[in-house]
Amino acid sequence: MAVDTLIHRINDYASRADPYPLYAELRRHRVARQDDGAYLVGTYHEIQALLHDPRISSDGRNRIPPERIEPEDDLPPSFITLDDPEHDRLRRIAMRPFGPPHTPGRIDSLVGEMAGVARDLLTGLQGRDVVDIVDDFAYPLPVTMICRLLGVPREDETRFRAWSEAIIASFDPTPGEDPAVRERAGLEARGAMGQYLGDLADTRRGHPADDMLSAYVEDEGPDGRFTRPELMATGVLLLIAGHETTVNLITNGTLTLLRHPEWLERLRREPALMPRAVEELLRYEPPVQMLPLRTPLADVQVAGTTIPQGAPLTLVLASGSRDPVRFDDPDRFDPAREDNRHLGFGSGIHNCFGAPLARLETQVALTELLAHLGGARLVEDPPPYRRSPILRGPRHLPVALHG
Ligand code: HEM
Repeated sequence: MAVDTLIHRINDYASRADPYPLYAELRRHRVARQDDGAYLVGTYHEIQALLHDPRISSDGRNRIPPERIEPEDDLPPSFITLDDPEHDRLRRIAMRPFGPPHTPGRIDSLVGEMAGVARDLLTGLQGRDVVDIVDDFAYPLPVTMICRLLGVPREDETRFRAWSEAIIASFDPTPGEDPAVRERAGLEARGAMGQYLGDLADTRRGHPADDMLSAYVEDEGPDGRFTRPELMATGVLLLIAGHETTVNLITNGTLTLLRHPEWLERLRREPALMPRAVEELLRYEPPVQMLPLRTPLADVQVAGTTIPQGAPLTLVLASGSRDPVRFDDPDRFDPAREDNRHLGFGSGIHNCFGAPLARLETQVALTELLAHLGGARLVEDPPPYRRSPILRGPRHLPVALHG
């Protein structure tokens, strides 16, 4: 059994711009036991099997020793960290106003509005020599759309941007900072955001608008309604997901296309290829690099190694999506790739709830970007990255528009 410090090297900020050689090393181990007793898995078929295995829990309370149980005044866990049957009930209630079977067409109906937001942002950049693709474009678009869907006033964005950053930082390994202090700040931010969303939902009771918070308080399906704490926890999950993920797909996509000018030109000429290009980006530069919070409920055999019950288990999705056993020439960016069943949105019961929204936003964003920004070039390569090894993407992406 390999004892290793691979996770320290992956977490090291120096690896952020290019973690892929470390993932290749991980795949050679197949299952890599770390010096702290955690296990990493980075091969495609093993990750898929574990994501579909009911013995693998998403609930940290199944760790040995258990993860700290949150104090009573905090929010209950959101469904991303629960197992079935609770997960299934909450996910179904959450999905009701968002997509099929109850609300098919909800996301597709937003395409015109999405393109309008993207075009307005790009028009605002005209005349500038250098723009930051992150702050000027990739961040505001998905945030505007998730606020619109949930029914959150866009002008409160600065408040929940700060909460969102504190929540994300709380599960990041930043050396030199006290993890307990960071965790407390994250829990406080989650509580504050939940309270804000709960209060907002209360204002919709009896006065519904065309948004998800209204549907959550007014509408009732076969699974019943959320309790107020459940609504708060779910609202936080959706708002965070809308803030911290698609921004990286749009930015990683812009960076990748600027590094592959032949594809950039082709997609500008043939925007119908964009959906496939977005799938390839989810494989090649995925925003969610790993799922660090799984726990086996029993001893589980993986590729000849026993992962013991209760051990922390991390599934490195970005490594699985570059596994040569599954994908031909996996380190090549190839939007024409056939059979691209990447792990970018996970798999199994927790597969990404927001995938249709994230896909459409990114397709629209990149299509509009290519149509508006002729002659753009990178100012810095690699650009400065965000700290997180889990939600990975550039913090800024400066691009020169002229000359
Ligand atoms: C490119 C953008 C996105 C990526 C790469 C992404 C990726 C993922 C991944 C890998 C998972 C699986 C987590 C796990 O198995 O533990 C997941 C779950 C989830 N995502 Fe996304 N996501 C994106 C955008 C969004 C958006 C915009 C929303 C909100 C509308 C969203 C909502 C969720 C939720 C609620 C879950 C939990 C599902 C469950 O536990 O059943 N995601 N996402």
